[in-house]
Amino acid sequence: MTERHSPLASGAATILLTGGAGYLGSHTCVALTQAGYQPVILDDFSNSDPVVLDRLEQLLGQPTPCVRGSTADTKLVADTLKQHKAAAVVHLAGFKAVGESVAEPLKYYANNLGGMLSLLQAMASTDCRTLVFSSSATVYGDPATVPITEDFPLSHTNPYGHSKLVCEDMLAALRHANPGWQTGVLRYFNPVGAHPSGLIGENPRGTPNNLMPLLAQVAAGLRPHLDIYGQDFATPDGTGVRDYIHVQDLAQGHVAALRALLAGQPSFTVNLGTGRGQSVLEMVKAFEVASGRSVPWRLAPRRQGDVASCFADTTLAERLLGWRATRALHEMCADAWRWQLSLSGQTQPTPIGRPGSRPP
Ligand code: WQD
Repeated sequence: MTERHSPLASGAATILLTGGAGYLGSHTCVALTQAGYQPVILDDFSNSDPVVLDRLEQLLGQPTPCVRGSTADTKLVADTLKQHKAAAVVHLAGFKAVGESVAEPLKYYANNLGGMLSLLQAMASTDCRTLVFSSSATVYGDPATVPITEDFPLSHTNPYGHSKLVCEDMLAALRHANPGWQTGVLRYFNPVGAHPSGLIGENPRGTPNNLMPLLAQVAAGLRPHLDIYGQDFATPDGTGVRDYIHVQDLAQGHVAALRALLAGQPSFTVNLGTGRGQSVLEMVKAFEVASGRSVPWRLAPRRQGDVASCFADTTLAERLLGWRATRALHEMCADAWRWQLSLSGQTQPTPIGRPGSRPP
């Protein structure tokens, strides 16, 4: 276990942020810190790079304490919770690639379910019973209609989605057994984009699974074209429709959820989306405008498991958390493009404002 120390701001509520060096984790770390909390990162770097910690320090003007390890190490988690007197946990650590979960189900059940079980045991043993959990719109399976509300039927079409569903059920059983548990379950739609500084963003290993990093790589000339998986769906232009949400909005959603729980809000499950659906062809066009580059594409067969249309009804998160997504599609594409250019060394990242300054 290696820990990076930093003077924890006195009075700031300390939050254990699992997976805090990852794509959503790093953006949530910035948002939590700028909201006055003190995150302590727990990350095994199985799907993230320690260099993110240096980028976070550049952005925040101070190092974020980080413990290298897995949520599966119950003693490590318990010791960390005790040492830092954590007020709550934001649990983002987990594998999230649908296709990989179909090929390697045991890897997903072991990591996503085993990690959650061990985390909850560590939390119970240290009397830390406030949890924000990263779930996914994948738990809605193939919705009969859109937009999707939180009371829609739940189902799973792959081990990744199944692991999220089982984690949600574990939390429901825990709340039933002990009302002292407070949980905020956040069902993400499609996270995209990057911090406007270009210092942190999505950095998938190998071939990306998701549309946005692929658009960026085609625009950057790293791939010859995009394969569009089907143009015969029951959607306006025949291509798949999704609810793309800026990762900065998603990070703010975690702050709002944590703030609500710490203020005594009863446990909740909410959608975190924009409430708007965009097709693949609309995303191609938006990315070409944002990058000033062409994005050649060719039609390919449908991808197994893809649904036609999936986007959120966001009224519950607005009502319970006073949160809604504010960033538009062009910002998502522009920030993703800036990040792609900094990844490929074509532009220097520029920290926004003075380190540690509040967001504009
Ligand atoms: C979006 C659209 C594809 C790639 C997944 C997970 C979900 C969440 C987000 C974690 C679809 C089309 C894509 C390509 C394409 N992950 N597409 N060509 O599948 O909606 O959601 O990622 O929380 O849980 O299921 O996202 O970006 O893979 O696909 O045409 O090369 O783009 O068919 O319509 P998806 P995606």
